[in-house]
Amino acid sequence: MAAAQSESNHTSIVEEGESHVAEVRGGWVLYQGCWLRSHNVQSVMLVQERFKARPDDTFLVTFPKCGTTWLKALAFTVTNRFRHAATSEDHPLLTQHPQDLVSFLEMPYRQLHPLADLEKLASPRLLATHMPITLLPPCVSNLGCRVVYLCRNPKDVFVSLWHFTNKVGADYTTPMDQAFELFSDGVSPYGPIWEHNLGFWKKYTAESDNVLFLKYDDMMAEPVKHVKMLAKFLCAPFTEQEVSYGVVEDVVHLCSFDKLKSIPINSSGETDRIGGLPMANSSYFRTGKVGDWANHLTEEMSKKLDDIVEEKLRGSGLTF
Ligand code: A3P
Repeated sequence: MAAAQSESNHTSIVEEGESHVAEVRGGWVLYQGCWLRSHNVQSVMLVQERFKARPDDTFLVTFPKCGTTWLKALAFTVTNRFRHAATSEDHPLLTQHPQDLVSFLEMPYRQLHPLADLEKLASPRLLATHMPITLLPPCVSNLGCRVVYLCRNPKDVFVSLWHFTNKVGADYTTPMDQAFELFSDGVSPYGPIWEHNLGFWKKYTAESDNVLFLKYDDMMAEPVKHVKMLAKFLCAPFTEQEVSYGVVEDVVHLCSFDKLKSIPINSSGETDRIGGLPMANSSYFRTGKVGDWANHLTEEMSKKLDDIVEEKLRGSGLTF
């Protein structure tokens, strides 16, 4: 009976979701100003209607391919370091993929998301999402939940996304020039990317105590400095003694691209995290480089995306 009830609620949410879709392009639908695959809409609506935030929740928010895996690894390691030292031989990151250590709000798609599983997590919870600020349930802001936002140069995001999407399966493979046209029009998962960035940038400028705004390139350049900032924001600042013992460097090393990529759980096997789309665990670790776009985009493409992003972000104070 409970299952039937749940199924019928799900169906009505799906139908309602379809009526909220403003535009369709290729396999994409525009839902409340955000481009999603139709099965993502169902999942996002379920979160919007049923997710119950807690005041001490912290959300790790990223546009896809901005370093979610890295941020999950870092936030998990920083907040759990008293139970699991970064140097310990049984650290969870040695046996579990970073993606599986912090749950997504809206994933996996294509099924009733186990929101009940999120309910079971002890407070304070770390939760991840790709949802733009406009789609997040109002309770997240109303309760003053904190947000760590990680963004990345859109050109590197595009290249990373294109490689990742081509690994999803034949149905998702798109020539780079076509994918670039769509991305430049804002059409990509959770796009437009500039709206995603601007939404959280505005929240950060209005409520800097509640939002830590990070950039992938800055973190790559100065990881120790940024991991200290992250720890402070997550209410787990490093003590002077920890700093002098090199604990911050230990965290940086454990969560580094080379280290994580080399761990068997991340370099072999496949897992279905998206929902109906099993993918190699290694798909989340490609080059981990800043500026790889230069190896893939023509000068014309680079200039086109630069110009679009510059225009969209003009006056906001946010630059890449
Ligand atoms: P590239 O495709 O440019 O290599 P996400 O985790 O949001 O899916 O983002 C994936 C991108 O982050 C990929 O970028 C991936 O290689 C990179 N990445 C994964 N783990 C990382 C880490 N520990 N440090 C830096 N970058 C990492």
